[in-house]
Amino acid sequence: MKTLFQNEKILILDFGSQVSQLIARRIRESHVYCEIHPYNMSLKELKTFNPKGIILSGGPSSVYAANAPKPPDEIYELGIPILGICYGLQLIAQHYGGHVDKAAEREYGRAELTILNEEDLFNGLQLTKGRLTVWMSHGDRIENLPEDFEIIARTDNSPVAAIRNKNKNIYAIQFHPEVAHTDQGKDILKNFILKICDVQPVWTPLNFVESQLEKIREKVGGKRVLCGLSGGVDSSVVALLLHKAIGDQLTCVFVNNGLLRLHEAEDVQRAFREHFKINLVYVDAGERFLKALKGVADPEKKRKIIGNLFIEIFEDEARKLGDFEFLAQGTLYPDVIESVSFKGPSATIKSHHNVGGLPEKMHFKLIEPLRELFKDEVREVGFQLGLDEKILYRHPFPGPGLAIRVLGDITRDKLDTLRKADYIAIEELRSHGLYRKIWQAFCILLPVQSVGVMGDERTYENTIVFRAVTSLDGMTADWAHIPYDVLSRISNRIINEVNGVNRVAYDISSKPPATIEWE
Ligand code: XMP
Repeated sequence: MKTLFQNEKILILDFGSQVSQLIARRIRESHVYCEIHPYNMSLKELKTFNPKGIILSGGPSSVYAANAPKPPDEIYELGIPILGICYGLQLIAQHYGGHVDKAAEREYGRAELTILNEEDLFNGLQLTKGRLTVWMSHGDRIENLPEDFEIIARTDNSPVAAIRNKNKNIYAIQFHPEVAHTDQGKDILKNFILKICDVQPVWTPLNFVESQLEKIREKVGGKRVLCGLSGGVDSSVVALLLHKAIGDQLTCVFVNNGLLRLHEAEDVQRAFREHFKINLVYVDAGERFLKALKGVADPEKKRKIIGNLFIEIFEDEARKLGDFEFLAQGTLYPDVIESVSFKGPSATIKSHHNVGGLPEKMHFKLIEPLRELFKDEVREVGFQLGLDEKILYRHPFPGPGLAIRVLGDITRDKLDTLRKADYIAIEELRSHGLYRKIWQAFCILLPVQSVGVMGDERTYENTIVFRAVTSLDGMTADWAHIPYDVLSRISNRIINEVNGVNRVAYDISSKPPATIEWE
């Protein structure tokens, strides 16, 4: 047995839809392995990948436009079941001689789908009067049905909202089953992958771990692997997975840049060295970072200084520790998709923060055992490996750490003040059961003093801003609607317990236009 799921997988060909990733996530949630590839993947690669089903994603193009992206014609003749979604439906219709044209009215948003056939794709759904609420987003529609296809669903605006050719196992839908607004969309996808493609749902965290252990051992052989540990969930899971696979051939390096939160450095050491017995090298570089940052107020300069110094220190350590063949990194699947995906004309331009990236000139071979996983899958794998909940569900924390939360220039005192306030805020969120409901929460120290009174005394002290946001991926975010009594307790405790703070503000800005961090 190589891997259980090696033959049980689905291919998603990407035509530039902004929600292609969601198709993959919905399928993975049904425990089926799938990958997204650009629409122009060669036939040879496609055959090597050997999927049990192919999904053609949506996309911003029109099939009748010049240079419209199209898959190789041969995919229709491979005998592999195909599901077209939105643009994918139009491709299929056009390929089989149907006619696609601009609809008189664009159909965008919720629509009521009337299901005409419940045999396969729409089998077992809970319908209300034969109907289902779905999410539409299209300007083109099928005017003439392709040959040998039958209509299996319609909406008021789209007489041809879903079609099939049962003999060829080709299905196509105008709506988006992958988005949350489509009722039972996941079940529709499940019908396609499990019933029509007959894939076994064997993609589970446990199977993943087992297959990775084998792969890692095979790749590493007797060589040594170096891993930069940050204490975040990705690098933690990478470290645990490697440790399980190759034990002491793994060395982790944890650089304390002095910009971490209260007790963080101790917690990471306790978890990895003492609990998991991982070979961990701890580098206390707080002084060096503080010195390099002295008097620097510009956030981008801070980032550069921190990034460069981190690499310098990491390289020094690597050299001291001897010969390593491999460097382990916590690259995740969304990063992989981002780098290969087909960018349609309307694709968003994403400004990406490089999280502690190490330079390519380090002459290591890379090991990236999580590059097939989404974040929630990484958490499940971490759970399998016994990782503490506190690390599994830790909020994202930026590489430059507290340096970009102490606005203006950085001193040890300011960092200490911020650390104490931040600790209190997070402690309160946890004790009120709010921590996991929030995507990211933290405090910011402003370079602003204001007047207050404490007892009979007039004070002139610092302001802490508390920021908590809800979000799915950090690209957009809303401020979290935290109950007043919790905010009140956070404010009281910070002002009472943290010397030098006499005012706490709560940030009620959404992203956009504000960003999550203040610098
Ligand atoms: P913004 O502030 O751009 O942040 O809304 C979006 C997400 O990115 C994180 N962030 C960073 N992460 N290095 C990082 O590793 C950085 O320089 C950086 N700046 C922002 C931020 O915490 C949020 O999760």
